Amino acid sequence: MSAIYRNSPLPRYFQLKEILRERIRAGEWKPGDLIPSERELSEKYGISRMTARQAITDLVNEGLFYREQGKGTFVSQRKITQQLIHLTGFTEDIRARGQQPGTKVLSAEMRPADEATAEKLRISPGTMVFRLQRLRLADGEPLAIELSQISFKECERLLDEDLEHQSLYRVLESKYGIILMEADQELEAGLPGNEEVQLLKIAPTSPVLYTRRTTYTERNQPVEYAQSVYCGNKYTFYTHMKREQLMP
Ligand code: GLP
Repeated sequence: MSAIYRNSPLPRYFQLKEILRERIRAGEWKPGDLIPSERELSEKYGISRMTARQAITDLVNEGLFYREQGKGTFVSQRKITQQLIHLTGFTEDIRARGQQPGTKVLSAEMRPADEATAEKLRISPGTMVFRLQRLRLADGEPLAIELSQISFKECERLLDEDLEHQSLYRVLESKYGIILMEADQELEAGLPGNEEVQLLKIAPTSPVLYTRRTTYTERNQPVEYAQSVYCGNKYTFYTHMKREQLMP
């Protein structure tokens, strides 16, 4: 798409977003490049400034652009967007960005669940769970460390799986017939610990994002409790919200 079509069923701001996205995808605009102003975009595409502003604001919110007071809007460093609408795994998120996902298994073992994990997985403390710690990479660059604790009947069979070259979600779904349906996830900003600094190759002052996700099967049975830490400067978490009702 390179022009805005007036008779298109797609709203104009949406069409403009696609055009701008394409410029980045095609490598025409690089991280750090200044993008045209609202006025320039509105003249070029024959749309109102409001429409141009809406497209830019959306892309700022999605992390593709960033604004600098008095200077303009720039293209962000390529960030990985983990949208919080559809339940996706790391491999899917990275592939969706056109990058190559990678995994280094740091440890994989059966361990008794501690109280907090047992509560999340709705099992009794001390029940054996499969505990997997992985370094996750995109195009060979470290992005996240994930600690997954998994509980289902015969979960010890996972010890024999090659989780360095296979996606965990895919293995669970295709080999074990576990249907992953929903997840609860919390996000929290923080600073990395020593191990995280080394594995993620970041400075101790570099912010990180901690996430905790409990994933449920179609029978609403928790199957995985994952604690992850993501490089804050490489990730954007994106969510879309709808207002249900006006304030009284
Ligand atoms: C995300 C989730 C993890 C999950 C992983 C699965 O990163 N935070 O809870 O284990 O995806 O990813 P994959 O299927 O690539 O192993």
